[in-house]
Amino acid sequence: MEKFIKNILVTGGAGFIGSHTLITLLENGYRLIILDSLVNSSETVIKRVLNLSNLHDKKRESMAIFIKGDVRDQKLLINIFETYTNSLQSIVAVVHFAGLKSVFESTKFPLQYWDSNVSGTINLLKIMERFNCLNFVFSSSATIYGTNNKNLLIKENDVINPINPYGQTKDVIERILNNLISEKNKKWSIAILRYFNPTGAHKSGLIGENSKGFPNNLMPIINKVAFREIKELEIFGNDWNTPDGTGVRDYIHVMDLAEGHLLALEYILDKNNKSNFIKLNLGTGTGTSVLELVDTFSRVNDVEIPYKFSARRDGDVSYSVADISQAKSKINWNPKRNLKEMCRDSWNSYKKQKDYKFRKLH
Ligand code: NAD
Ligand code: WQD
Repeated sequence: MEKFIKNILVTGGAGFIGSHTLITLLENGYRLIILDSLVNSSETVIKRVLNLSNLHDKKRESMAIFIKGDVRDQKLLINIFETYTNSLQSIVAVVHFAGLKSVFESTKFPLQYWDSNVSGTINLLKIMERFNCLNFVFSSSATIYGTNNKNLLIKENDVINPINPYGQTKDVIERILNNLISEKNKKWSIAILRYFNPTGAHKSGLIGENSKGFPNNLMPIINKVAFREIKELEIFGNDWNTPDGTGVRDYIHVMDLAEGHLLALEYILDKNNKSNFIKLNLGTGTGTSVLELVDTFSRVNDVEIPYKFSARRDGDVSYSVADISQAKSKINWNPKRNLKEMCRDSWNSYKKQKDYKFRKLH
């Protein structure tokens, strides 16, 4: 008798966090249907993920299927669910990374953000419900906590008050997911994962953070300074209420995040668990200032990072660090990689991507 196959639909799987999670899921035996519009990624990433996974050549093709498409495309989603739901297989859960993620861009193009993030998620949830696929892992963000200038660890039940359109889309999606859980007649199981500051890369350096367009986040900018594409780093403010005056954040290695997704997925799939709804902060619980990150990056990678101080950036907070006790106790997640590994792996991956592009051009 043929074995019944459990598929996982991973949206946005070609992106930064999605691609690293694919490796962990593949290594743990899941069969993946990967849907990505490639608006902020490329198909090369999928090929590299397959090469990195420890599967044999033949098995790879059957264990990961890539589909280029948009989560807002209802016909495509119906087609995917019809294709992979029959007497021999079904899509048992969706891990939903797809969405637009730039705070700055969201203030310039709010409609695109509401459409892609909120309409896209509603579309996806409607089709899931139609096919009775009711297990959902969602990529949320620490940005929903809004202004927190108290320098205290942030807990999941702290006030939600996002101050930019991007964060507001995540908040609204979380509210929709709350509504689904309150429905009496359906059996949704949902994990909301609120990432703090994802960074680092797979140790091979073959995949990493490769957003199209100019980055706004600190680590990708530091990489550009290290590569001498930018003369110096602009540090936004040295007068914050923190020990050295620069902003403090909770940087988390993307491979630790990937393992968090695996554990969250397994939690919601296990119907013996007490709760069918978990909301978890994913960070390390340790704060690092901009100057500390610059210093660690310089030392670990033996490269100078020139910087200058400039005015505070609109919308920034002094301190954003997670209380991760819920993730530890509920899904037994313990991030293992430290700041040095984040700096080393980020730089290694950045240099490799640059080298690869250079060789392709010449
Ligand atoms: P990313 O841009 O690298 O990955 C997102 C992927 O989704 C990309 O490959 C993109 O092409 C795809 N995509 C975007 N819109 C789509 C659509 N409508 N249909 C299909 N595919 C679409 O971003 P990431 O850093 O990997 O983030 C993944 C998720 O995590 C996002 O939802 C993001 O908002 C969230 N998040 C990211 C961070 C971070 O700092 N990276 C922090 C918190 C939360
Ligand atoms: C970190 C620190 C800056 C750039 C954002 C989103 C959040 C999440 C993660 C998606 C701050 C300082 C930065 C620079 C600097 N993404 N900085 N010079 O703002 O904590 O979070 O990314 O969900 O939603 O808001 O991350 O990397 O932009 O900034 O001094 O050129 O680095 O002021 O203190 P942030 P970041």
